[in-house]
Amino acid sequence: MSVIYITTPIYYPNAPPHIGHAYTTVFADVIARYNRLMKRKVFFMTGNDEHGLKIQRVAEKEGVSPKDFVDKMAGVYRQYWQALNISYDYFIRTTDSYHEKVVSESFKRLYEKGLIYKAKYAGWYCVDCERYYSPGEYIEVEGKPYCPIHNKPLEWLEEETYYFKLSEFKDYIVKLLSETKIVHPESYAREVLSRVQAEGLKDVSVARPRERVSWGIPVPFDPNYTIYVWFDALLNYVSGIGYLTDESRFNEYWPNVVHVIGKDILWFHTVVWFSLLKALDIPPPKRVIVHSFLINRGLKIGKSAGNVIPIEFLVERYNGSDGARYVLMKLFNLDKDVEVTVELMDSIYNSELADTYGNLVRRVGVLALKKVRGKVYRRDVDKKIEESITSLLNKYVEDMEAMEVSKALSEAQELGKILNTYVNEVKPWERPDPSKELYSLLEGIRALSIMLSPVTPRASSIISENFGFPLTSPAEFRVGQIERYNIVDAPVLFKKVQAGREKAGGQENPPGS
Ligand code: MSP
Repeated sequence: MSVIYITTPIYYPNAPPHIGHAYTTVFADVIARYNRLMKRKVFFMTGNDEHGLKIQRVAEKEGVSPKDFVDKMAGVYRQYWQALNISYDYFIRTTDSYHEKVVSESFKRLYEKGLIYKAKYAGWYCVDCERYYSPGEYIEVEGKPYCPIHNKPLEWLEEETYYFKLSEFKDYIVKLLSETKIVHPESYAREVLSRVQAEGLKDVSVARPRERVSWGIPVPFDPNYTIYVWFDALLNYVSGIGYLTDESRFNEYWPNVVHVIGKDILWFHTVVWFSLLKALDIPPPKRVIVHSFLINRGLKIGKSAGNVIPIEFLVERYNGSDGARYVLMKLFNLDKDVEVTVELMDSIYNSELADTYGNLVRRVGVLALKKVRGKVYRRDVDKKIEESITSLLNKYVEDMEAMEVSKALSEAQELGKILNTYVNEVKPWERPDPSKELYSLLEGIRALSIMLSPVTPRASSIISENFGFPLTSPAEFRVGQIERYNIVDAPVLFKKVQAGREKAGGQENPPGS
């Protein structure tokens, strides 16, 4: 049986997740659900990145201990993922004791191998990124170094620290980036490669003095230091599947790992991560899928930009998790940043979910109930419909295998449109016995519901139950497979949103914008 291990970044729980985090998590969930539908063995992991200065400072501000703070936030994240119907198999937390042991042991091994050493460090630091920026990397505002991501002044830090010998891995990284297809889309691999070739690789600091950053895993042989949060965090991908604790589990999942990340953390997930793995004698990940940003008013959506769109806004407006997931996946783009507006999301939801899919299902269901008391027996399927189903389902599978979710949704949309046109052409309501037409339409609806099921799992399973068909794997789908449909209800799946409702309430844009 083929296996896939899919991960999201582990999120900093300094604030609740917003639709930028949901963007990554829903995408990973869709890939997980699609692979389960294809009957593959899936392990889907998300979680929280709980150590470091950023968390320490928020907890201080709130007047609680960092541990109490991250415990509470883990609950908050879980609730959000539940509201979005995220089917993770495991939620990892970097304060889990087994993870802390793996990090500590890995640090020790690298020190013993001579790949970690102690020396002095000075540089400009961004607390929100939890990283140093060298000249050329930061931007300048009124002559002062600013973080290019957060647009905030950097802090000057000078300290003795432990370094990881990243510089030793330059050839290895160049080889991986230029000769393999690990990083997808390839343009991101080229981007990192040209930076590595232009600037080379400098050793990176992987520890912090305890007096400054107390909230971290102690350096095992030096209690005055804590381990750098990125060293700690990246290792979640291996600790979560049994690295150093359960060898057979680790060996089953690791060769099949697919990391999903945003482009902001590309450097860490290529240069730093590949080098750390190599240093620990672990092969590189199978794939790193990189996506671009959701932007609002021209800036990456984020807490520091003050342009956050809350997840609850989408869930409430688009009829629960399915609508929110669909809208996000339709916007999903690996290469280009996407500007989010309520108007755009409304029009996707109204035209694709409420009209094309929801309305089709309702119309056909009601007709079947009225004309043949919901019982539709197998007939020859209309040739054109049969061909459309087969070819669009094939394209859908191709797209999903290539993780082109938004393109796969367009194939589903195309099928929906063909089916809607067919209803209007054959007018089943005018026929004494429209069984042939209804059967053709139901086969189309079945295919469509299967195609949509990774994105709108609730709606697909409601239809599958009410119309009496299983959500089979696309690989096992055959037109004419169903002997009899038994329709018991034709529910309204997606109520249209009233465009302009926001304006009526005096608010043109979502909260936070
Ligand atoms: N904790 C680190 C990751 C460690 S992984 C070993 C981190 N956390 S984060 O909370 O800042 O989340 C970053 C991720 O959230 C991005 O890589 C991206 O996947 C997602 N996004 C956050 N804002 C986003 C947008 N505005 N648009 C798209 N994705 C965004 O970095």
